[in-house]
Amino acid sequence: MILKNEQKYRSWVEVDLDNFSGNLQEIRRLIGDGVDFMQTVKADAYGHGAIEISHAALRSGARMLGVANADEGIQLRVSGIEAPIVILGPSTLSEIPDIIKYHLTPSVSDAGFALALEEQLVRAFRTLSVHVEVDTGMGRGGTMHSEAVDLIQHIKTLPHITLEGLFSHFASSEMMTPYNDQQWQLFSGLLAELHRMGINIPIRHMDNSGAILNYPTLKLEMARPGIMTYGIYPSEETKGKAALAPVMSFKTTIVLIKEFPKGYGIGYNRTYITKDKTRVATIPVGYGDGYPFILSNQGEALIRGRRAPVIGRVSMDMCTLDVTHIPDCKVGDEVVLLGRQQDEYISANEIAAKAKTISYEVLCALGKRAPRIFLQKGKTDAMEPRLRRIFVPGEEKSIARIDNIIRHYLQTRTRNEELGDAIYYEMFETLFGKEDRQLELRSSFRYDITIAQLPEVAEHRRRADAYFQLRTHVEYKKTIRSDIFMIGCASDSLQLAALIEDEHCEYRWILGGDDLVIERDFTVEKMRIDGRDIPIIEAKKTERGYEVWCGSEKLYWYDPQPHPDQPELASTYPHHKHVPPDTPIPEVKRSGIKHHRLPAPGLRFDAPNLQLLIEEIEQQLQM
Ligand SMILES: Cc1ncc(COP(=O)(O)O)c(C=O)c1O
Repeated sequence: MILKNEQKYRSWVEVDLDNFSGNLQEIRRLIGDGVDFMQTVKADAYGHGAIEISHAALRSGARMLGVANADEGIQLRVSGIEAPIVILGPSTLSEIPDIIKYHLTPSVSDAGFALALEEQLVRAFRTLSVHVEVDTGMGRGGTMHSEAVDLIQHIKTLPHITLEGLFSHFASSEMMTPYNDQQWQLFSGLLAELHRMGINIPIRHMDNSGAILNYPTLKLEMARPGIMTYGIYPSEETKGKAALAPVMSFKTTIVLIKEFPKGYGIGYNRTYITKDKTRVATIPVGYGDGYPFILSNQGEALIRGRRAPVIGRVSMDMCTLDVTHIPDCKVGDEVVLLGRQQDEYISANEIAAKAKTISYEVLCALGKRAPRIFLQKGKTDAMEPRLRRIFVPGEEKSIARIDNIIRHYLQTRTRNEELGDAIYYEMFETLFGKEDRQLELRSSFRYDITIAQLPEVAEHRRRADAYFQLRTHVEYKKTIRSDIFMIGCASDSLQLAALIEDEHCEYRWILGGDDLVIERDFTVEKMRIDGRDIPIIEAKKTERGYEVWCGSEKLYWYDPQPHPDQPELASTYPHHKHVPPDTPIPEVKRSGIKHHRLPAPGLRFDAPNLQLLIEEIEQQLQM
């Protein structure tokens, strides 16, 4: 039997990215020009796969992403997303270090959190944007609307916090009720008061899906849709107010078919007894996969375009369907638990109604241990590794785990284990050579080195015999995450390791020699970012070697971008490493680009050992 590619999985979730971007187009039509939207991707994008959905939303014009907690934000940052990520609810104090490290935008609901954030920002030499949440009647997150002005004024006094956004959340926008008007009045009253006080907060937002559909005239700078982007109407009364198409389907295959005589008990506790001779299909999906237990003897699935009822109890990993009326179905047939098959369709709302829950919960739960298969233009676009579903960003430092994820991803992406592995090994060898080195986030690395005799000034006579003068100019692109950062110079590998540990250390250098003195032996002459000169604040000797601190407050403010950095360094370098004392040193210049170690055409080194010296310096350059 020839299996479709997905059918090698026990069950799988299909995510239709064409329908998703069609829904976003519809949302843009409804909110109109001039209003931005934040894509809500909480709970793994309502179960659709946060990374792919976020990328697709950003491609379709989303300005920000909304997550539930720091871990969800980290997962997106680690996957390379640089757009603003707002945590849509109060964070715990223990999340603050990660919020700062990964440049997430927390919502602030109370002064205690704002103060704790400010204190940690001071220590990290960082600034951060926040959105203040206001409770206008949701009775959950947010500062009470009557206390909002005080909180906002307090936050305005905290120099490391930028008040970028202000938002509130409707309690029942899926229905048209006077309560929504009341909430809106409270929020717009607050906005008017802030305006009178001369406090302007640039991004204000309140509309979720229900509000976008039911109250199209309530407009602020941004809307925050969730459920409707996934093609689900938040209520019966919102149907017809937009043309949405469902994004998620949940599918499996028949693994076993048996025929039972009349009076046979099916499943745990024999809650279903066959009324007649019955053909039963077993499918490998149970409540462990998010299929609700409450659908025991209630749910339905689609096989060959027809509905097959769930009979007996849903167990953890299996359930059973009556297929007596589908005599031609067989093992391996596709079974649809959510979604379309031929002319039949099972919606999230249908499942939710039977399971006495809401569509949101159905989407979040279904396919908990299934891979996501992303469809674009009718074809499989990407297959999300199952590992991603259990990827815990806090474990990001576990190299073995990341290795596993990357390797599995390449294997799934190429749909061939051997090819995936080949790319994996090739990739790492190209990036790091054979050694096991830490991942560097720099790109477009260029350098110029000039080596010359150290001038023989009287007090330097002894040194001139023992050291060269070395001038280095390096350039690279990298996202700078702190406004204030440091260029470090270690004199041994222990110090170097300490500098590598410090995320403020943007660039490292190592100098040998026992009588080194800062400024004489190691000077940063200039530091430029994006062509702008960056102030050098101080140079000091510490336990880690020399530290040259650069930067200024608000060096970069909102959206982290890769910046070309250009440190220019002057240092001395000991002769004795490769060149015998008294060798005359010609001035040697050498330029290069990362990974290109061949001498530039026409460059010759007279002293043969100088080649070794240059190579050693070049190796150090990328620290
Ligand atoms: C603060 C906030 N904003 C926006 C949304 C998106 O809501 P919906 O999915 O109803 O559009 C949610 C969802 O729970 C939320 O909690």
